[in-house]
Amino acid sequence: MNIDEYISTQSKKIESQLCNEIPQEPESMYEMLREYISRGGKRIRPILTLACADAVGGKEEDAMPYALAIEIFHNFSLIHDDAEDNSPVRRGKPTLHEQYGIPIAINSGDALYTVVWSTLLSRNLPPEKFQGAMKILVKGFSSVVNGQGTELEWYRSGNFNISEEDYFGMASGKTASLIGASCEIGAYSAGVPREVQDGLRIFGEKIGLAFQVRDDVLNLVADPSKYKKEIGEDIKEGKRSLITLKLIGILPKKEKEKVIEILGKPVKSDEEVSWVISLAKEHGTIDYANSVSDKFVGEAKEALTVIENEEKREILASLADYMVRREK
Ligand code: IPE
Ligand code: IPE
Ligand code: MG
Repeated sequence: MNIDEYISTQSKKIESQLCNEIPQEPESMYEMLREYISRGGKRIRPILTLACADAVGGKEEDAMPYALAIEIFHNFSLIHDDAEDNSPVRRGKPTLHEQYGIPIAINSGDALYTVVWSTLLSRNLPPEKFQGAMKILVKGFSSVVNGQGTELEWYRSGNFNISEEDYFGMASGKTASLIGASCEIGAYSAGVPREVQDGLRIFGEKIGLAFQVRDDVLNLVADPSKYKKEIGEDIKEGKRSLITLKLIGILPKKEKEKVIEILGKPVKSDEEVSWVISLAKEHGTIDYANSVSDKFVGEAKEALTVIENEEKREILASLADYMVRREK
């Protein structure tokens, strides 16, 4: 099994159905969302939902509505996240608030959020099945906004006194919980016992943390021809990433104060951004972040003991490796 081919095949399958969920009217609203959602993206969350369902003997058609709902939620969260982070580029194109302004971006995100529920409701799932799915989704979605809320509060209050534990708590919420829910709900769609669903949620949460830490790394050192967001943007945003937090923790007093001052400034020059990135390279905090994401992938694979079929376990293990091997 070539994992890149697997990802590409699954991704096409998901994409062929995604836009069907978006309403037609008002056209001015939904056309923009259709374009946004068709820009691509890795589709890693719905791919995981389908892969986890398959790994426990489930049917793809049963898992697909959940896979679509999760990818739609993810797209909604990106639209709002970009407005919150003031990010200029998403998936190689201008962010929605950059293109249409903040009010339209917020409202379009809200519209997409309602599509999460219309996607599920249109399937007429049995009420008990629907309710169980809601529990998984609402828990995952609320963790995302809680994690995001923690990060936004760090910006608002200018807080840099953040431990690695605080960082992992925040990243578990904003990123890992949705990836965990993507895996759990795949197992849930197949109706397997709770311990198998829990095992796959833990697998997803671990690869989700690896994914976020890798995201922090790519943001600073990705190949610009492959990366589809702005390089160094996390420094411009003043993001408390694992890399910047570790750097602040190990730098001598003077440099530490300078880095905090730069990260806290509303506008940073390109030189300031490059200087912080070069410090991170020099002090090994990028290598450190890479080693942390590898560690999470190792832990994730340990959770795969709930999967009996060796070939299917291998697919999930390869998807876990992809989370840190990716270049975009
Ligand atoms: C971006 O997610 C947001 C994070 C949690 C890091 P992805 O990197 O999965 O975004 P797309 O869907 O591929 O654009
Ligand atoms: C995005 O986190 C998480 C959510 C969408 C809730 P980031 O802000 O770290 O991701 P990017 O760098 O914008 O993709
Ligand atoms: Mg962001």
